[in-house]
Order: sequence, then C-alpha cells, then structure tokens
Amino acid sequence: MTQRIRPAWVGAVLLVLAATTIGSAQRPNLGELMREKLMHAETLVGAVVLGNHGQVAQSAAELVRLSEATTWSPLQTPQYLNHASQFRVAAESLEDEARARDIDGVSLAYMEMTLSCVQCHKHVRGARLGN
Ligand code: HEC
Repeated sequence: MTQRIRPAWVGAVLLVLAATTIGSAQRPNLGELMREKLMHAETLVGAVVLGNHGQVAQSAAELVRLSEATTWSPLQTPQYLNHASQFRVAAESLEDEARARDIDGVSLAYMEMTLSCVQCHKHVRGARLGN
C-alpha cells in the first residue's frame, strides 16, 4: 500500500474548497448576518441608554454595512424590500444623530430601527405561513 497522496486528489479537494468559498462569498449566509445584526443591536441598547455616542455611531455603521448584505433574501416581496429599506434608513439616521450627539434623535432612530426588525420578521413569518 502506498503512503503517497495523489496530486489529483489534492487538486480535487482544493477545487471543492475554492468553489465552496466562492459560493458562500456570493450568497452570504443570512442566518449568520442576522446573528451579527443581533449582536450590534444588543450593544446598541447599552450605548443608547448611556449616551455613548461614539459606540452608537460605530454599531449603527456596522448595521448599515450589514443592511447592504442582507438585501439578498429568499423573500422578494414589495413589503420585504420596504422593511429592508426602512431598516437601512433608520440605521443611517441613527449613525448621523449619534455623530451629531443628539440623544433625542438617537432614541427616535433607535426605536424606528428596532421596529423595522420586528416588522420585517413579522412579515417573514406571515409569508412563510402563506398569509
Ligand atoms: C428586511 C427584513 C429584516 C430585517 C429589517 C431584519 N431581519 Fe432578521 N431576519 C430576516 C430574515 C429573512 C431572517 C431569516 C428567517 C429564517 O430563515 O427563518 C432573519 C433572521 C434573524 C435572526 C435569526 C438568525 C438565525 O438563523 O439564527 C436573528 C437573530 C435576526 N434576524 C435578528 C435581527 C435583528 C436584531 C434585526 C434588527 C437590528 C433584524 N434581524 C432585522 C429579515 C430581517
């Protein structure tokens, strides 16, 4: 029995790995992106409450970045796209208000953003059930 690893096999394995990597880069895992969203949203609660504008601006910027990635979805209803754009607008205004150090503006944008999370999820669940 030979102990040598055949180059053809190594090539095949590398090809599969490359294809998987390219595939997932083109179509980001929505669950992963959403868990990242949740992480930033959780950090935000504390930052908003404590008036930590620097942290709010940073987390909001991350959410804006993620909102670009999560426009891809298995669901392309007009309502879904509407929720996605509401989320994005609210996250952008959250970042702006935090940079302007306006705590009232920050609170309002934070609530609007959180509301869009809840409303989009409600819509997704309804669409799944065929409503
Ligand atoms: C435009 C629509 C939309 C918005 C806005 C949105 N989500 Fe989601 N979210 C989804 C979809 C679609 C899924 C996938 C549902 C599924 O596959 O079951 C999801 C799934 C999730 C999950 C479960 C991930 C997993 O698989 O474990 C979490 C957590 C989550 N979202 C958090 C958030 C948070 C926090 C926000 C707001 C900061 C948010 N989402 C905003 C559409 C949205």
